[in-house]
Amino acid sequence: MAVGRNVARKDGFPKVAGSALYTDDLAFPGMLYGRSIRSPLAHGRIEAIELDFDRTGFTIVDCQDIPGRNVVTLLGDDQPCLAAGQVLHVGEPILLLAHADRERLLEARVEIRFQEMPALLNLLESDHSFKDILIQKGELEAGWSRADTIIEGEYRTGHQEQLYIEPNVVIAVPEEGGVTIHGSLQCPYYVHKALRVLLDLPPERIRVVARETGGGFGGKEEYPSMIAGHAALLALKAGRPVKLVYDREEDMIATTKRHPSICRIRSGVQDDGTLTALDIEVLIDGGAYVTLSPVVLSRGVIHASGPYRCPNVRIQGRALRTNTPPNGAFRGFGAPQTQFALEVHMERIAEQLRMDPVQLRRINALRPGDRNATGQVMGPDCSALEVLEEAVRRSDFHRKRRNHSGSLRGIGLSLIYHGSGFTGSGEVALNSEAALEVTEAGVRILVASTEIGQGTRTMHAQIVAETLGIPYEQVETDNPDTARVPDSGPTVASRTCMVVGGILKRCAEQLKERLGDRSPQQYFAEHGSLKVSRRYQRPEGLLWDEEHYRGDAYATFAYSCVVSELELDPDTYQVKPLRLTAVQDIGKAIHPILAAGQIEGGTAQGLGYALLEEVVMQGGVMANAQLTNYLIPTTMDTPPIDVHFVNRPYQEGPFGAKGVGELPIDGPAPSLVNALRHLGLDLRSIPATPERIMEVACASV
Ligand code: MOS
Repeated sequence: MAVGRNVARKDGFPKVAGSALYTDDLAFPGMLYGRSIRSPLAHGRIEAIELDFDRTGFTIVDCQDIPGRNVVTLLGDDQPCLAAGQVLHVGEPILLLAHADRERLLEARVEIRFQEMPALLNLLESDHSFKDILIQKGELEAGWSRADTIIEGEYRTGHQEQLYIEPNVVIAVPEEGGVTIHGSLQCPYYVHKALRVLLDLPPERIRVVARETGGGFGGKEEYPSMIAGHAALLALKAGRPVKLVYDREEDMIATTKRHPSICRIRSGVQDDGTLTALDIEVLIDGGAYVTLSPVVLSRGVIHASGPYRCPNVRIQGRALRTNTPPNGAFRGFGAPQTQFALEVHMERIAEQLRMDPVQLRRINALRPGDRNATGQVMGPDCSALEVLEEAVRRSDFHRKRRNHSGSLRGIGLSLIYHGSGFTGSGEVALNSEAALEVTEAGVRILVASTEIGQGTRTMHAQIVAETLGIPYEQVETDNPDTARVPDSGPTVASRTCMVVGGILKRCAEQLKERLGDRSPQQYFAEHGSLKVSRRYQRPEGLLWDEEHYRGDAYATFAYSCVVSELELDPDTYQVKPLRLTAVQDIGKAIHPILAAGQIEGGTAQGLGYALLEEVVMQGGVMANAQLTNYLIPTTMDTPPIDVHFVNRPYQEGPFGAKGVGELPIDGPAPSLVNALRHLGLDLRSIPATPERIMEVACASV
């Protein structure tokens, strides 16, 4: 009835009509504007701060104004909200100003004298690891001895900027003994927790309202806790609402990006292509503070051996500290980096064995019942082979591969998987709660999950409507407000449909029982409101050993195969993508058009990662923090994408659904680079800009 249909999006009309209010559209009486004064240095001690302006009407905040602990609380609790005596990266916030007049605010001159200290900018020189992880399966020695050939390689990926259309913005409104935050953000309860620690306030004094949010992609997962902290400090000191809005340049220079990575792979293979051993080293650049690096590394290493059933595997990962702005969450969360490395490496194995790259993957692909690197047994929904065969068939891969050889047209592919939901015991620790409430008009969904353009509200309402057997239109949804909704966890990790949607489905089942044969409206007329809430329940049989990194790292995996066709300009080395085929298994598409939209958007973002998006770091600062020189794909750069689903339902997911949000960004980069390899270009790093392709082309003649 509702599930599987392309119903009208809950947030659609107001967005199209322009009536939806984003945070920067809001104004409060007496509101001031805020500004952050940041470090120009990558490493130094603060010696003196001089305020070189008329302070009338200004509110000025530094680290001494913090009532609680000076941290942006997350995993490491090492990152100050405002620098206290030292700075560890360019862009680190030191001082905050607020004023009613934006012009005066921007004109205010602040001089900071530093004692400059040596900055460590290269992760290979770092000796400080935020996190080390080791995964071991089988015996590497046994794997080497059974191998006919050993193939090694090193692969590199760069930073990537999330580039949501709406830059970061938060408004803090001081309230009686507390503060309310309105913001563009993914995780209202992360902000809530960070403010409790920073402001030393009881939970009920803090309210976080997620407003319409113009994209997040991970970039609004943890950083809004910093901005909300700044706005709240200013608002509490001024006693007036404060709006902090970043322009594009500030957003690019100061906030988190995807971790750059270096992966080294040593593999043993038999003549027929069977993998016997994989020894993989993963290094990621964490930047100056811990942020989410340990969990990004975790997802990265677990995905580093890809959807393959190699019996002997060792994966070692390190997240290293440098004096660069902290890197953080970005769609894919470590998996795009490590699966780029592995899929380009697989291509090199096929080249050396003179083997069909499809056949190599076919031989090694995980089947139901196989174990991956952490020893997790793949369930009946393991579909690596199916997505591979379907993508090869739909794209006419083999005919094009033969016909294109020797020309300037290349074709390549990648096969990847992506774990749905938090890694390891993460979902158990989160203990997420969701609720449903009977109203006069039907039912209302109460979750902390945010609508960041991906369709949260629509898809949740479909799941609830279908389960209750009521019309979709009678399910009410809204942007979350911590004063009204329980903590259903952060809107991250491809969990909003499978995990939160799953809890909502259980709420709806419970509610249906309570309602009996009455409609929600009838119940409301007779008894008034009724609220049903449920918490996350770990599916039977899942076990995770955090100490040894063994067991069921995810409830299940989604799968994808991407085939890329492209043409290379022999004079400019520009790449023109011609066609992408993206076949995936997400279990069940609750809303087929929205799901396809996730795939198209993620594929385009992956194409940018592969070919265009280069963060140029100079002295620890992004030198191209403009949309004129940080290039992302426009519609003109994005070829037709053939999106196709071959869904294998996951028993425990709502209506069989698995994760969809991050899956599509893992595959495009290795697929496109493998299409360039088809042209004889030995590329092993991204972005594959014309300059980098030219270097490789010139080196090979
Ligand atoms: Mo995400 S990168 O799990 O917001």
